[in-house]
Amino acid sequence: MPLYSKEIIKYFKNPKNMGKIKNSSACGIAGNLTCGDVMKLYLKIEKNKKNEEIIKDIKFETMGCAVAIANTSLLTTMVKGKTIKEALKIKNKDLIKKLGQPLPAIKIHCSILAVDALHDAINNYFKKTSKKI
Ligand code: FES
Repeated sequence: MPLYSKEIIKYFKNPKNMGKIKNSSACGIAGNLTCGDVMKLYLKIEKNKKNEEIIKDIKFETMGCAVAIANTSLLTTMVKGKTIKEALKIKNKDLIKKLGQPLPAIKIHCSILAVDALHDAINNYFKKTSKKI
């Protein structure tokens, strides 16, 4: 059995939303002390017709591994266009499930970077706009 699922390899080889957003509404950073990898995530937040704040755009830069890239890439596709409230409901176990294969225990921490960076970015956005989660 291969170490990684087809989905992980697909998102790693063709990552979605990789890059930087100039004039982002907020950005967040998550790191892992074990491997030293870092994930930086940018958000562009706008209001929809119902006056709800939605994630209009999201991009990421990373010094992470294949699993971190695949998880973050998938997360960006899941939250784009969603309200902040909806985005906050996504857990790293949801990403692992969608990527189609249990991760080796040593790689679980890699899947947490995406969600942690998203939460940090949303938290920073709320700090900037004086809201509380
Ligand atoms: S080994 Fe560091 S994020 Fe995967």
